[in-house]
Parts: sequence; C-alpha cells; structure tokens
Amino acid sequence: MTPLRHASSGTASLERAAHPRPGGIGTGARKLVRHWDRLVERWSRDFGSSFVEDYSFAGAERHRALHRRVYDGRIEVTEHRIRLHNLPENFRGLRIVQLSDIHHSLFLPFHAVLDAVSLANRLKPDVIALTGDFVTYSRAYIEPVAAILGTLRARHGVFAVLGNHDFRVDAGEVTRALERHAIEVLRNRHTLIRHAGHSLPIAGIDDLGYSADLSRALHGIRPGAPSILLSHNPKIIRRAAHCQVSLVLSGHTHGGQINLPFAGTVFGRSPERMRFKSGWDRLGPTQIYVSRGIGTVVLPLRVRCPAEIPHFHLQPYDSSRAAPHRLSAES
Ligand SMILES: [Fe+2]
Repeated sequence: MTPLRHASSGTASLERAAHPRPGGIGTGARKLVRHWDRLVERWSRDFGSSFVEDYSFAGAERHRALHRRVYDGRIEVTEHRIRLHNLPENFRGLRIVQLSDIHHSLFLPFHAVLDAVSLANRLKPDVIALTGDFVTYSRAYIEPVAAILGTLRARHGVFAVLGNHDFRVDAGEVTRALERHAIEVLRNRHTLIRHAGHSLPIAGIDDLGYSADLSRALHGIRPGAPSILLSHNPKIIRRAAHCQVSLVLSGHTHGGQINLPFAGTVFGRSPERMRFKSGWDRLGPTQIYVSRGIGTVVLPLRVRCPAEIPHFHLQPYDSSRAAPHRLSAES
C-alpha cells in the first residue's frame, strides 16, 4: 500500500521528537515550556483529566497533505488518497469527508458550524464521517448542532461516533439528537456500505475514556476484509492495528490547536501523543488519519493550525505501485 507519506516512525524518531535538539529553542522559551508543563500538571491534578486536556509543549507539526484547498481562509479542505488492501474494485474512488471536534459553543457559533456543513456538502461525498465532540460543556447546543448536521448529504450516509465532551455533557441526548436528524451513530457496532454486490464495513466506537468496545464493534467482520473505524481518540491505533483494521479516522487532538514558533504544539507530552496528533500515519497494517477538527477548547484560538475538513479518496491497493514502508518498532 502506498502511503501518502512515509511514516518515519519507530522508537528512535519518537525519542527525537520527544527531546528536541539543543538549540532548537532558547533558554527563555525553555523556561516558558517548563512553566507551562508544570501549570498543566497542576491543572490536571486539581481538576482531573476530565476537565483539562493535556496541553503541553512538545514536538513539531508533521502534517503533510497531498494538496490543499482553502475555501475561506478559516477551514482548510485537505485531500488524501488512501489505498486499502482488498478494497473491492467497485469501491474505487469512494470519497469520505470527515468532520471532527465541531465543539458547537460560544467559541464556535451557529454560522461557523453552518460554514463547515456547507463546505462538506459542496464536496458531494459518498460518505460523511463525524468523529465526535459535537458540543463542549453545554446541553443547550446539542439540538442546534444536530439540526445543522442533519442537513449533511452523502450518497451512502452520514455516520457518527461520540467524543469525550459528548459523554461529559450527555451521551444519550447527543445520540438521540443526531439520530432524530438521520445521522447513524455507531456506538460499538458496525454497519455495511453496500454497492454493486459488495460491502465495506464502517465501525464506530465510543470514546476511549468511557465505554469503548472495539471487539464488539468489529464482531462479524471477516479477518482481512477492508474496514474503516471511526474513533474519536487516536489512541485506539495499537488495538486497531492488532485487529487489522484498514483505516482509522480520528480527531480529539485538534492538531495541537496552538502551534507556537520554536516551541511547537501545545498538545501531547508523550511520544505517542506527539506522533498520532495530526494527519496521516500508519502502524503495522493500519492507516490512521487524525483530523485537526473544526472547533476549539480551552481558548477560542488556533495558532498555525487551521481548522480542517479531510477529504479521502479510496483506492484498491496495487502492490506494483507500492513504495516500501517501514513498520514501527511497536507494531
Ligand atoms: Fe475535541
């Protein structure tokens, strides 16, 4: 399978990412980094991880798309060719649009959600994948965001999974609201897209911090069959690779949301968080795409990390065109 870019992963490169080269940032900036990390640790201790997400300085932005189409300067549509093993020829060219981390709230008002939905519809996709965090803290935004998302149109349907914020607000109500607007919510189960006598499984799991059950979601999918998994949190990647999922679509990280010059992104301290933070990657047989998402949390701010709508074009894997790739040490 030809990756859009080669994963320069592996333990050594992860360690390099975790410990930036000396001289990469100045003494003042390092002090600022240490101060910020201590602040984040204290917030996490005081409020619990359910309140403060892990926003620490680390690593560098590694996203690289095939090419980009910027529609309005605020949301970037990124294009990606994804080659999947055993994808039936009938599904060649199937297009999936992903919307993630909408976070409808004071930070992301009604008209901004409408812009994102309008962009997605203009792409005329076959499938739309919604990968969680529709709201942030308030129940008042559940029905409005579901109503706007109900205007999404895709030939084979609109599918959703819930994110950690949806669980904090009210997972049941978010599910019911989305389903009232004809969006199929995949809570630890899968469905089949059928076309010309062939089928392609799309599975979805609850957020990893709540009631995710990958085995249940994949139950009944033939081993080796191409499969797509929607998981709000990209941390599912190891288990997904173990289960030979073909492609995982995730969000949650907001791509770092704030990527400062020299200091890098403020999301994710661990090497794994840095690696699976934004864009395409692979682990063993499993490809993953982590969207930067639409909305924001903590601050109504994105720095050098624009909102994103990824647009995937699926193709069958052709071994004669595949470039060699290195499996990571952990796979
Ligand atoms: Fe989010």
